[in-house]
Amino acid sequence: MSDFLANVFPDEAAIPAAVNLPHFIEQREYLIDGKLKRWEGELNPVASPVFVKKGNAYEQKVIGSTPLLTSKEALEALDAAVKAYDQGHGEWPSMSVATRIEHIEKFLSKMREQRTLVVNLLMWEIGKSQKDSEKEFDRTCDYIVDTIDKLKELDRNSARFVQEQGIMAQIRRVPLGVALCMGPFNYPLNETFSTLFPALIMGNTVVFKPAKYGVLLVKPLLEAFRDCFPAGVINIIYGRGRETVGALMETGKIDVFAFIGTNKGANDLKRLHPKPHRLKAILGLDAKNPAIVLPDADIDNAVNECITGSLSFNGQRCTALKVLFVHKSIVDEFIRKFNAAVAKIKPGMPWDAGVGLTPLPEPGKTDYLKGLVEDAKAHGAKVVNENGGTVLNTFFYPAVLYPVNEKMKVYSEEQFGPIVPIVPFDTDDEPIHYVMNSHFGQQLSIFGKDSKRISKLIDSFASQVGRINLNTQCQRGPDTFPFSGRKDSAEGTLSVADALRVFSIRTLVAAKMNGENKEIIGSILNNRESSFLSTDYIF
Ligand code: G3H
Repeated sequence: MSDFLANVFPDEAAIPAAVNLPHFIEQREYLIDGKLKRWEGELNPVASPVFVKKGNAYEQKVIGSTPLLTSKEALEALDAAVKAYDQGHGEWPSMSVATRIEHIEKFLSKMREQRTLVVNLLMWEIGKSQKDSEKEFDRTCDYIVDTIDKLKELDRNSARFVQEQGIMAQIRRVPLGVALCMGPFNYPLNETFSTLFPALIMGNTVVFKPAKYGVLLVKPLLEAFRDCFPAGVINIIYGRGRETVGALMETGKIDVFAFIGTNKGANDLKRLHPKPHRLKAILGLDAKNPAIVLPDADIDNAVNECITGSLSFNGQRCTALKVLFVHKSIVDEFIRKFNAAVAKIKPGMPWDAGVGLTPLPEPGKTDYLKGLVEDAKAHGAKVVNENGGTVLNTFFYPAVLYPVNEKMKVYSEEQFGPIVPIVPFDTDDEPIHYVMNSHFGQQLSIFGKDSKRISKLIDSFASQVGRINLNTQCQRGPDTFPFSGRKDSAEGTLSVADALRVFSIRTLVAAKMNGENKEIIGSILNNRESSFLSTDYIF
């Protein structure tokens, strides 16, 4: 261990009281059919990525435990969701949009009351900096507010009748059924809730299983989930994915599968469903987003964007820049400036002011990253930044690798961590070839000024990825923009508006425009005889 990491982990006494968790959090509750049940079986310890110094040694903080439910409880949760949906006749799916919104708003106000605790748990469970944890919480609340607004807009638009070829129709969106929502550990609140709330607000009932890490942070919200929704509308389970979620898929009763994780995990689960044609999937999966830095790029801007693009939250973002193609003519200057910028990022604990690098939550992750560095070295790359790749417990100091080539694992494998592989290139065909041959197709970034050259790249990549960023890092936001991907990177498109579509289907009532039909429909509308066929809408 090099000395420069010696102070990265704190003494217990140095942890500020405001972020310290009050006590060991033993969670035994889970939510099924409107009841918080108590689990008496096996528990899963929650080990924080944070270690504390004890004299000359280090001790990993174990902050709590969560229930390891079995397939039995998972199936009970599913039964509750199926019952609450009741083939579309349940209280929730048949409720008016305005009343459903009231339930969501009630939840949102209770959720806001838990901000401090949820933010602290984000820091302790996944090592996200305080600033980014607060951003994740606030962005999630904003997402819910925007979702409500979009639903009102959708409701207004669907209230009108259309007339085409002598047929009049009213087209409305209705829920699909039971949704299974699962999110990733890097955005355990935001990414999970960005499918969970659209699913709920459209009238589906839900089984929600929190991410692998970032599980305890759902606990402060359990009572709000119980109190703000009718029984069975939202059911929250915990445990090993295979055992719990696998059992759910095998029943064939899941109608929508919302999953942010690996394409392997998604494939394994999807193929368990006995009637795949009935399963609608919305998936956010692996990515290996490249940056392409052209010879005329504004190097300072490219460096700044590539630094946040590759290293914010230690590179643990699905949208992170995971390989940098830099033109040979500028690569030396780029690396010099990039390394200088890396050296300025502050390592430390999530609550330290100005921190930019923090410990990693996945067990075994630093060994995996070390392996990638060793493999790259064996094929001719060097770690070119000072202290690059230094490890202490769960902390991995960023390694900038150069020159990277196709023989190295890190050239094509998604590192999902603080390694920055730099590939020098001569002709634009080299990065084009890389993107065309990649299994992934989420996003990429182009840095340069020559509009003709950039246009050629844009046209080559438009059929390969979901978003092309110009002189800007890759990212999901703003959340109103479509977030999609090609190949093994995604299925379906998410955005505030798209998510409402994903969790619903258009159903219409259509009739030939003759006097009799006009009279029947007029009577239904005027007397408010149907809740579907109605011109009422909310402001
Ligand atoms: O991990 C993947 C997230 O969707 C990335 O979102 O680009 O806002 O960090 P972000």
